[in-house]
Amino acid sequence: MSRGRFITLEGMDGAGKTTHLEWLRQRLSVRALPLIVTREPGGTALGEALRKLLLDSHEPRQPDTEALLMFAARREHIATVIAPALAAGKWVLCDRFTDATYAYQAGGSGMAWERVAALESWVQGELQPDLTLYFDLEPELGRARTRQARVPDRFEREQLEFYERVRAAYLRRAREHPERIRIIDAARTIAEIQLELEKTLLIY
Ligand code: TMP
Repeated sequence: MSRGRFITLEGMDGAGKTTHLEWLRQRLSVRALPLIVTREPGGTALGEALRKLLLDSHEPRQPDTEALLMFAARREHIATVIAPALAAGKWVLCDRFTDATYAYQAGGSGMAWERVAALESWVQGELQPDLTLYFDLEPELGRARTRQARVPDRFEREQLEFYERVRAAYLRRAREHPERIRIIDAARTIAEIQLELEKTLLIY
């Protein structure tokens, strides 16, 4: 049996990742492909518990700690969900994966890039997504889409700077892995983006 395809979606809040994930799910279902949709953090009982813990708490945390937790949950996710699905010939559509750890914990929060790389090779071995769709959007535009367009306060300015660093890290990953990561300009209309996604999927 041929191995399934592993596709990940990445991008910042407001970039439309969730809308496009649902659309992709439908498009692949039409092709009658065996498919699972999963996410990180999440995808297993442990991952979902961790997601709640991480996203509900606003206590400051060491970026290394966050990355270790992400990779612990990722190990479980790969071993019990992703690898078995791929081995059974299924397609796996995953909302965020390791590029998010590079972007958020290294880029956004300043963790050493090489440390993420060390964890990546330990936890994943040879496993990499076949295709990563990175929905790229200027943070200022993402903010304008999710809130009223008004002058940002200090907290929002800090947030924007954080997201500038997250974006720069995603773009660095895309430069380092052009064969896998496809940059999708998320400033365009949904229809334009879907056209590009359709073309991209045709070659897979
Ligand atoms: P989401 O709802 O877009 O999936 O958001 C999940 C949040 O978790 C988002 O703020 C990014 C963050 N995250 C990390 O910081 N590191 C990671 O490795 C992953 C997978 C997500």
